[in-house]
Amino acid sequence: MQFRAAVLHEVGAPLAIERVTMTGLRRGDVLVRLRASGLCHTDLEVIQGSLAYPMPIVLGHEGAGIVEAVGEGVTHVAPGDHVVCSWNPHCGHCFYCERDLPILCEPFIRNQPRGRLLDGESRYRLGGQPLHHFSVVSSHAKYCVVPESGAIRVPKEIPFDRACLIGCGVMTGVGAVARLAKVEAGSSVVVIGCGAVGLNAVQGAVIQRAGAIFAVDTDPVKLAMAKQFGATHGLAAGAEALAEIKSATAGRGADYVFECAGVDHTLQFMLDALRPGGQAVILGKTNVGKQVSLRWGSMMGERRIVRSSYGGARPRRDFPWLAQLYLDGQLKLDELITRRLKLEDINAGFDAMTRGGLVRAVVEL
Ligand SMILES: NC(=O)c1ccc[n+]([C@@H]2O[C@H](COP(=O)([O-])OP(=O)(O)OC[C@H]3O[C@@H](n4cnc5c(N)ncnc54)[C@H](O)[C@@H]3O)[C@@H](O)[C@H]2O)c1
Ligand SMILES: [Zn+2]
Ligand SMILES: [Zn+2]
Repeated sequence: MQFRAAVLHEVGAPLAIERVTMTGLRRGDVLVRLRASGLCHTDLEVIQGSLAYPMPIVLGHEGAGIVEAVGEGVTHVAPGDHVVCSWNPHCGHCFYCERDLPILCEPFIRNQPRGRLLDGESRYRLGGQPLHHFSVVSSHAKYCVVPESGAIRVPKEIPFDRACLIGCGVMTGVGAVARLAKVEAGSSVVVIGCGAVGLNAVQGAVIQRAGAIFAVDTDPVKLAMAKQFGATHGLAAGAEALAEIKSATAGRGADYVFECAGVDHTLQFMLDALRPGGQAVILGKTNVGKQVSLRWGSMMGERRIVRSSYGGARPRRDFPWLAQLYLDGQLKLDELITRRLKLEDINAGFDAMTRGGLVRAVVEL
């Protein structure tokens, strides 16, 4: 079968809408007719070259749609189910899966950076040549083939454009607070960077019934949004923000700090805003080869520092939970969508992301 997909051929080039060929479903595969796909900062990092992937590649890793067909042996989903794609499918029985760290699953870690599915193969061809999958999802397309553990059933009541956001930004932000750090009621929380990931960390803190929630950003529009999402303080990034966090926490610093900006100099702010014995979670990322420098003393005092991918996600547990929170009016998703696009216009979405000011652009498929 053939379908249209947004393909990146080389770093810096605009995505090209191509007719790609799907070679056939294998055991454990799920074919999804995609209906919506969110543009995440990570896609932009591949386009700009700070995150290296083999090309040509079909980008996109925040997808939602309807199961069209399943390969042999698939039991968790069936044709007609509404699903959100997880970008961390995992084998369930390797060294790390056995230690409940699916994000480090060995077949996933081995094949995902090579643009392959977990069996090391691609299911797509372009002009007879293998075409690469992005993060085992490739959702900027009319269809995608994913492993069964990457197709997560959600209630049919949640619209696709909102459901897709659960697949990365929402899961990462809410999950880091609620699932990974397990923030306790009444805790003080700082969120640095209030884009899609940070706003979801803010709403994760609200779900956990945190006390003071300090949102820090350089952009006043994002600070206003963070307040709409439940932040108790919106602080312009800088020394005054640090002084305000300290003064509101009896000079100690916050119980938890979530770094969601992905710029290296916010790491020092993160440590300075964290109290001794507190926990910092780094969600942002910058060029993997970049060296960072931190004041040694700021790491002392039993501070716990974790760098998390996907916020401790357990997609089969968490995606239906997040979808239900939305349906119950306890999770904001509508407000995250600041632009809607057709697949043909996807480059305009990435251009807007480069200029700043977007939260999420969603491609309607
Ligand atoms: N850990 C994960 O699994 C995961 C998943 C998705 C995205 N990410 C990463 O998270 C980061 C955020 O992603 P996003 O989609 O929300 O991006 P985004 O661009 O929408 O948000 C980044 C925010 O940080 C703000 N910012 C920039 N410089 C700042 C500074 N010095 N201090 C405070 N705020 C500042 C920006 O104004 C913006 O609001 C990126 O680095 C992305 O690669 C990580
Ligand atoms: Zn993402
Ligand atoms: Zn595994």
